[in-house]
Amino acid sequence: MRSILVANAKGGCGKTTIATTLAGAFAQVGLKVTLADVDRQHSSLGWLERRPAQAPRIEGIDWSKKIDSVRKKTQRLIIDAPAALTTDDFKLLLKQADVVIVPILPSAFDRDAASAFLWRIDALKPIRNGKKSIAVVANRTRLHSRASRALTDFLYSLDHEPVISLPDTVLYTDTAETGLSIFDRRDGRAKVAQEMWLPLIDYAERAAA
Ligand SMILES: Nc1ncnc2c1ncn2[C@@H]1O[C@H](COP(=O)(O)OP(=O)(O)OP(=O)(O)O)[C@@H](O)[C@H]1O
Ligand SMILES: [Mg+2]
Repeated sequence: MRSILVANAKGGCGKTTIATTLAGAFAQVGLKVTLADVDRQHSSLGWLERRPAQAPRIEGIDWSKKIDSVRKKTQRLIIDAPAALTTDDFKLLLKQADVVIVPILPSAFDRDAASAFLWRIDALKPIRNGKKSIAVVANRTRLHSRASRALTDFLYSLDHEPVISLPDTVLYTDTAETGLSIFDRRDGRAKVAQEMWLPLIDYAERAAA
């Protein structure tokens, strides 16, 4: 089993969007996927409830109270972490994961919070010694935006250059409405968006292998 933890101490940065999209991507290629929702808001589990029966199946599990075992058959485990995660709670989740994805929004407030979070997790042993790696995603970026440029510069300065940058688009919000991910869609717009995820999927697959 390969396992991906999506986390950032900051709320609303796109953790659930990334967790559900990755779950959709892996399910679409026929892998057995489990989506573990650690957040009491149960956004990922709500998304699964809306998911149509004919879409590739994703198993949902509730980890908001405790970390439970995962079905033996699971090939990809995606863990959707809550905001305001303490270092101790993060460490528990990190034990379950091969790679951590950290989404960050282009704003000064989000940069400050992310800087503190990355500093905290970079210091943890499995990350320090390279056993587990971190992939940063610049999320909701906008062309020609000062904040988007500042985010990229900031991430380079921290030696965490983004593996991918995702644009700010209603495609994600609209697609999630019906329990689908962009990987469950065949239209041109979704296909263009899917391409952008390939470096991240590749990164996670290689880090977890
Ligand atoms: N690339 C994007 N473009 C447009 N909207 C986005 C994008 N990514 C996320 N969103 C929207 O931003 C909001 C927050 O995203 P999401 O719920 O994924 O964040 P989160 O980090 O899981 O939040 P929380 O900390 O509350 O769990 C949602 O309304 C989501 O649809
Ligand atoms: Mg969430």
